[in-house]
Amino acid sequence: MERRKKIYLGTNTKMYKTTEQTVTFLERLNELTQDISRDRMELFVIPSYITLPAARASVPQESVLIGAQNMGWEEEGQFTGEISPLMLREAGVNIVMAGHSERRHIFRETDEEENKKVLCALQHGFKPLLCVGETAGEKDFGIAEEVLRMQLKVGFHNVTPEQAKAVSVAYEPVWAIGVNGVPATKEYADHIHKVIRDTLVELFGAEVGGDIPVLYGGSVNPQNAEGLIGMPYIDGLFIGRSAWDADNFHSIIRMVLPLFEEKRRKEAAL
Ligand code: PGA
Repeated sequence: MERRKKIYLGTNTKMYKTTEQTVTFLERLNELTQDISRDRMELFVIPSYITLPAARASVPQESVLIGAQNMGWEEEGQFTGEISPLMLREAGVNIVMAGHSERRHIFRETDEEENKKVLCALQHGFKPLLCVGETAGEKDFGIAEEVLRMQLKVGFHNVTPEQAKAVSVAYEPVWAIGVNGVPATKEYADHIHKVIRDTLVELFGAEVGGDIPVLYGGSVNPQNAEGLIGMPYIDGLFIGRSAWDADNFHSIIRMVLPLFEEKRRKEAAL
């Protein structure tokens, strides 16, 4: 099955939820979504580092993929405060996120560093999730598209088309994320998703670049989720606050899944 035929839905719990809270959340989410075939949906949760082994053990890997919010790009060394790919492998992690806007802007990470993380994650058999997004200033200057193309071209530098089959991209405009964020309109988000799709095709060719899932994130909520998922270039949603309660996340999942499938059916009929 082509990857874009299934919906991608995930949440990053940031620096929230203790191990106990993460496990409770995952167990409930898994229970609520058990009847949904994972051929139709890839569901993932990215909790904080310290919860990872318990998170992975709490639900089957076939139901919920577990991701790390960050990763050091060396296997070991004098890198105080970093977590290596070997440690994440031991914890049973499936996905490694690189370049979340909070990492880029609060912790000053660069595109070159995200590239090292993406390459290292691929070498260690993880699925990298590269997050990209422009700031409000870059949008106002009219350079959002240039910024995103740079983030993608540097972030995926030296990634082969074969390796790219394991990657996903999340478009998260910096101005749309978090409590002070203003959600992107579905039209703007879709326009940018097309720019991202075109760049991925340029980098990896039509077959591989056309199949990489591109998720939208940034103040997704029960009011805007349906509109966003109905847009042609949006393959999934990467949700923060609105997904941190398993029942709320589950309602969004039930809301968007049929719309997504209808969209794909209509596209196939064209
Ligand atoms: P938000 O977070 O949905 O709370 O805006 C999104 C994110 O940071 O991934």
